[in-house]
Amino acid sequence: MIMPSVSIGDGAIIAARSVVTKHIPPYSIVGGNPAKIIRKRFSDEVIEQLVKIQWWNWNYEKITRNISVIVGADIEGLLSAK
Ligand SMILES: CC(C)(COP(=O)(O)OP(=O)(O)OC[C@H]1O[C@@H](n2cnc3c(N)ncnc32)[C@H](O)[C@@H]1OP(=O)(O)O)[C@@H](O)C(=O)NCCC(=O)NCCS
Repeated sequence: MIMPSVSIGDGAIIAARSVVTKHIPPYSIVGGNPAKIIRKRFSDEVIEQLVKIQWWNWNYEKITRNISVIVGADIEGLLSAK
């Protein structure tokens, strides 16, 4: 359950049956009632890069071409993606 005015950061994972009462930082995994951070998906440095790159805003063709670097969270590959 996501409470009103709460925002969910890009790439975050909300565990099943959680009650989200506060902003969820990007690429964190949260769970419980109220939801708390369980862990982060990547290091702070990698998260910072992923949020800057915003691969999810690329067009369909670019995402398709670069799907392996996206699923691999390959930062160098994402930075040089064409
Ligand atoms: C949420 C999830 C992705 C986290 O995976 P993970 O980072 O590998 O963490 P774990 O499963 O080892 O659990 C870590 C902690 O989170 C807790 N946790 C897991 N699911 C939870 C939930 N739904 N609510 C509250 N806490 C939860 C665990 O009890 C554990 O607590 P502990 O460290 O005090 O023992 C995983 O537990 C999962 O797949 N859960 C079931 C399906 C789900 O919720 N998917 C996401 C939404 S569809």
